[in-house]
Amino acid sequence: MNIQRPRGTNDILPEETGKWQFVEAKIRELCRRYGYQEIRTPVFEHTELFVRGIGEATDIVEKEMYAFTDRSGRSLALRPEGTAGVVRAFVEHRLDARSLPVKLYYLGPMFRYEKPQAGRYRQFAQFGVEAIGSIDPFLDVEMIMLPIELYRACGLDGFQVQVNSIGCPKCRVQYREALLKHLGANVDQFCPNCRRRIERNPLRVLDCKEEKCRALVGQVPLITDYLCLECADHFQQVKEYLDQLGIDYVLNPQLVRGLDYYTKTVFEITVPTLGAQNAIGAGGRYDGLVEEVGGKPLPAVGYAVGLERLLLALDQQAGRYYEEPRPDAYVAHFGGVTKAKAVEIVTDLRRRGLWVEMDYLGRSLKAQMKSADKLGCRSAVIIGESELERQIVKVRHMATGDEQDVKLDQIAAYLTADREEHGA
Ligand code: HAM
Repeated sequence: MNIQRPRGTNDILPEETGKWQFVEAKIRELCRRYGYQEIRTPVFEHTELFVRGIGEATDIVEKEMYAFTDRSGRSLALRPEGTAGVVRAFVEHRLDARSLPVKLYYLGPMFRYEKPQAGRYRQFAQFGVEAIGSIDPFLDVEMIMLPIELYRACGLDGFQVQVNSIGCPKCRVQYREALLKHLGANVDQFCPNCRRRIERNPLRVLDCKEEKCRALVGQVPLITDYLCLECADHFQQVKEYLDQLGIDYVLNPQLVRGLDYYTKTVFEITVPTLGAQNAIGAGGRYDGLVEEVGGKPLPAVGYAVGLERLLLALDQQAGRYYEEPRPDAYVAHFGGVTKAKAVEIVTDLRRRGLWVEMDYLGRSLKAQMKSADKLGCRSAVIIGESELERQIVKVRHMATGDEQDVKLDQIAAYLTADREEHGA
């Protein structure tokens, strides 16, 4: 039977992992500078965590969760996102006793049963940051700046930052009233999903993808006109910091998010050229979530980047945006005593920090040189019997074909100097 990977998942082959490592290295360096420390939480949690945290009436919880019952009858779910698990760990390990805000980041796979298409997968990777324990609007701005710097450091441009405030549960009481009043007899024209959601979380109507709902939504009142004093003031300060720091953004009063935990600031970064799945990251404030999962009432704000989408955007734009490392040398031999010497030389060179390949299949010299070329080796170290008697090897520069006699005890120094001269 020919078994293939499950729908909506990806194999990242060796020639692709270099890109991932490139982006991951940028992420770790950026988090170091911004003072975020890595946290690793399980890929599955109690289903209840996501139901309570993300919201019962969200698409993620209603339709997209990989939930299952384990052999002891517990209901567990593969994490559809990282925030709920990080907050659960924060509460469980009493991280609130640390200096606030606690600033954490994570990298890892998330799982959503969505309809797969370019940029939308059932297993995808996120880089996320969460800052828990401060209401400071500058932290919201830091959360917007950090991904912008990441995108820039990777070589991406042409992205757009959209910002909104969706207020707090207090503002939403008034907004809901205004919305219901406005909709009046029109409530029935929304799709069944929206009708249900208008009751539970009216903001969700703004996010519906159905044509007829979108047309109706065009005229509904906007949450930003219903913010309470505290939320309006907070949003004002966010905008002022963004302006002060010269960050380009667009106010989008219709921007709402697909997760119920958000309060106040929400934001999304999009790359228009990516097509339908153009959000390369999104986040916002979630001041009620820590308490919702059993902790003290502590405000928090976070952001997550979809790494596949970031890489798709980089592939589209930047071509070769990272340097693929290549082997320093291919050690070629002719079997017998030359193989015995080859294993010694290979081992020694590797211990000295060089990336060295060799023949494991007893191939001819010609075939070995072909392999060296295919692997992109900079040089070939050719160990012949007559050279061995003279305590030398031939080192061939693969690009030019030039050959040099090099003493056995000079090979490492020769290859290192060559790498420095010709680049990695
Ligand atoms: P989200 O908007 O659901 O937010 O996901 C964040 C990003 O993950 C998206 O902008 C997108 O780049 C990527 N993403 C989401 N679903 C998929 C998918 N099916 N395939 C590929 N990429 C996808 C969150 O997950 C929040 N936890 C973000 C956050 C952190 N808010 C506060 N802290």
